[in-house]
Amino acid sequence: MKNRMSPHAALTAHLIRRVARTAAVLTVLLSSALAGAQTGSSQKANKGEIQRGRYLVMIAGCNDCHTPGYATKNGQVDEKLWLTGDALGWSGPWGTTYAVNLRLLMADMSKQQWVKHARTMTPRPPMPWFNVRPMTDADLKAIYAYTRSLGRGGDPAPAFVPPGTKPGGPVVQFPG
Ligand code: HEC
Repeated sequence: MKNRMSPHAALTAHLIRRVARTAAVLTVLLSSALAGAQTGSSQKANKGEIQRGRYLVMIAGCNDCHTPGYATKNGQVDEKLWLTGDALGWSGPWGTTYAVNLRLLMADMSKQQWVKHARTMTPRPPMPWFNVRPMTDADLKAIYAYTRSLGRGGDPAPAFVPPGTKPGGPVVQFPG
């Protein structure tokens, strides 16, 4: 008869166990609810970041050269084609350059790699890399988020043609 609880003590112990079990279940439910809420809010933040990237790409003029026909069609180009690069050449003393397909470029880069690339790249004219470099990390990341949200698309732009070699397709000729 040692260790035998009084009916009252046994009931109390039983209740404590029940409360503990219920609390454990509630903890699991609550933490998964919180995780769900967190996913929801990070998705929302991501949507906002993508929208900001779209805005930046528009006002910073990236489409003007990196989207086929954008400047000549007053920006009336299907968004599916945005940032897919262009076969229009830019000829000058540097040779002939082509605005690269940014969707393919960024598809093969991590966000960190893109930020680093944007800060260190020195492409040939008329790419205004000096306008990209002073962008904040948040702006560069937003441009990345938007570009990646479009997915891969289009073909690689034609390869650079060195000075003295005649390019095949249409070009904008700079003096000098
Ligand atoms: C006036 C036309 C023009 C505008 C505007 C322009 N680009 Fe470019 N971009 C080019 C050309 C041409 C090249 C290819 C340069 C080369 O071959 O050296 C290029 C190359 C690039 C590259 C690849 C560079 C490398 O070395 O890997 C990136 C990244 C890029 N542009 C991003 C942007 C972004 C972001 C914007 C908007 C802020 C932008 N460009 C606006 C014409 C332009």
